[in-house]
Amino acid sequence: MPADMRARLGQVELPNPVLAAAGCAGAGRELAQFLDVARVGAIISKSIMTEPRTGNPAPRLAETPSGLLNSVGLQGPGIDAFLQRDLPWLLSRGARVVVSVAGQTIREYAALASRLSDAAGVSAVEINLSCPNAEDAGRLFALDPATAGSVVAAVRGSLRHDIPVFAKLSPDVTDIVAMAGACVAAGADGLSLINVLLGMVIDPARLRPALAGAYGGLSGPAVRPVAVRCVWQVREAFPDVPIIGTGGVRTGRDALELLLAGASLVGVGTAIVHDPSACSRVARELEEEVGALGADQVADVIGQAHGARGRVGGGLVNGPGEASRQTG
Ligand SMILES: Cc1cc2nc3c(=O)[nH]c(=O)nc-3n(C[C@H](O)[C@H](O)[C@H](O)COP(=O)(O)O)c2cc1C
Repeated sequence: MPADMRARLGQVELPNPVLAAAGCAGAGRELAQFLDVARVGAIISKSIMTEPRTGNPAPRLAETPSGLLNSVGLQGPGIDAFLQRDLPWLLSRGARVVVSVAGQTIREYAALASRLSDAAGVSAVEINLSCPNAEDAGRLFALDPATAGSVVAAVRGSLRHDIPVFAKLSPDVTDIVAMAGACVAAGADGLSLINVLLGMVIDPARLRPALAGAYGGLSGPAVRPVAVRCVWQVREAFPDVPIIGTGGVRTGRDALELLLAGASLVGVGTAIVHDPSACSRVARELEEEVGALGADQVADVIGQAHGARGRVGGGLVNGPGEASRQTG
């Protein structure tokens, strides 16, 4: 019998734990010609801000060995257009929607949260903390635990209480557990790990950085071991906090790795750029991987790489349902 792939996002049941990560599927509509968006676990929107934005100057993408460097910036239509056009379209297609919010000030994050409180059909809000803080010389909110905590508290305080809040952390910190702890203490219901790593490519032919903005965010297979490490560390410290694990997932086996490290949901980002149907394929492959482990349900593999109670020989040591109770 195929493994039960259902997963939970707060009160919402998902058909499987594979999500389209923020920014790689626009507002979801772009995927519709390649797959049925209702069959993706959930679609995380590109980060939405209060006003429309054009993003950074080109060139904004550079390929690297096993990774993509991007400096797209927070390009988007703004919250009004998202609520009027994109959210209703996704809901009309039966998709579950996680709205990623981004701000330049803590007030902007709070304003976005209160707009989303009035919207029907938002399964969760993901806070993109990797944004420059206009009130702190452009330093990213994600780099300081106290600042990140203030953003989370502002969003949590302005958002309808039945919508879960996930704080999305940057791996560019020395202590990811301290960042996670600050966000959980401030009211985050879950954590999203990881956003891109800051990187740079120089074009030797032009003697200049390849990207117009010099630096960019590294994603793709190159970052997967970093994501696995971050998920692992945070799961060890906060075993009851749900984690969306994202970073370099291209196959079902990659997704399994993040689940085993402790994620309860998995985001697929850069892989969508190369294969727009990646979310469905990864979910299918994950089902096979879970079946091959002898598990009846995907929830049973969550966190199984931790400690002596992991997989031994041909089966899982924990009984059915045990892992799912641990992860909430
Ligand atoms: C082109 C591009 C745009 C992205 N835009 C966003 C965004 O709007 N908000 C966000 O939180 N993360 C954004 N990300 C980060 C991804 O959601 C993801 O966390 C990261 O790329 C690691 O996963 P991956 O290796 O599967 O891409 C973006 C990534 C890429 C490649």
